[in-house]
Amino acid sequence: MRQNILLLGKDGQLGGEFARFFISNTGCNVDVLGHGDIDIADKRMVFDVVKRRSYSTIINCTAYNNVDLAEKEKEVAFKVNFIGVRNLAEAAQKNHAKLIHFSTDYIFDGKQTRPYCIYDSPNPLSIYGKSKLYGEKAIKEITSNYLIIRVSWVFGGANNFITKLIKWSRQSNKLEIIQDQISSPTYTYDLVRAVYNLINKDLSGTFHITNTPVKKIDWAKYILNKINWSGQIIGVNLKDVDFKAARPRYAILDNFLYNSVVNVEMPSWEDATDRFLE
Ligand SMILES: NC(=O)c1ccc[n+]([C@@H]2O[C@H](COP(=O)([O-])OP(=O)(O)OC[C@H]3O[C@@H](n4cnc5c(N)ncnc54)[C@H](OP(=O)(O)O)[C@@H]3O)[C@@H](O)[C@H]2O)c1
Repeated sequence: MRQNILLLGKDGQLGGEFARFFISNTGCNVDVLGHGDIDIADKRMVFDVVKRRSYSTIINCTAYNNVDLAEKEKEVAFKVNFIGVRNLAEAAQKNHAKLIHFSTDYIFDGKQTRPYCIYDSPNPLSIYGKSKLYGEKAIKEITSNYLIIRVSWVFGGANNFITKLIKWSRQSNKLEIIQDQISSPTYTYDLVRAVYNLINKDLSGTFHITNTPVKKIDWAKYILNKINWSGQIIGVNLKDVDFKAARPRYAILDNFLYNSVVNVEMPSWEDATDRFLE
């Protein structure tokens, strides 16, 4: 039987990638909605949409992602990342659908010196991180039929670190890049295929899925070298930048659970970056 899938957040980086993937690579029926079609914070709207068809899976790629603005817009951040996610979990549970949701390395404080496993305790430093953690907790309280996938430094659409860096490089021949933050880029192309592996195995639970780790400054150097930029990179530390929100300095997510259940490793950050730049 063909699966019915509801995909939310079609105009975002990850939602766009899922839409392309499902439409060209699978025989699933996919209903694809964007922010203009549904506000996940509106409970009645969510329930109306979810009961339209008998969905086996709801993929939530929506989020409030502005880490710094969230410090000021706490209510909006929580409305989307907590209340909206709770609405989706309730609707999924009532309609016997699996909820696939994405979370972040920013639920951790970055004080660890080894990669974060799914069993490590969260301790978010920012409102954004807190709102995403509340979203995770809501799902776990409401349903057991879920996949929570934690990712970091997502790229794949038009607005991400790579596209911004290229834009900055055209505007200046001196760029300040953070040198004391390490995490893992996550290419939406690779992530979507990894999530599809989990869907096919009918697994539930929390997974970390990213490409391999790199310091932000080394990622920037690699990208700028690839585009033959000849300017100067100046390394700065997180504490010297006037970010409104605190960020974890060390935020490597350990993919071990994903690797062991599907027996496939995620591609390296260099390989993912090369494919995106092509
Ligand atoms: N981007 C990263 O570096 C990063 C890092 C770690 C984790 N993640 C997580 O990965 C997932 C995918 O991120 P992404 O980069 O693909 O996000 P994105 O490009 O910012 O897309 C998010 C989408 O959600 C929509 N949206 C916001 N509020 C909504 C609401 N109330 N109802 C319906 N739609 C709403 C946005 O629409 P508008 O533009 O109209 O608001 C946007 O199209 C998210 O869960 C995110 O938290 C991302």
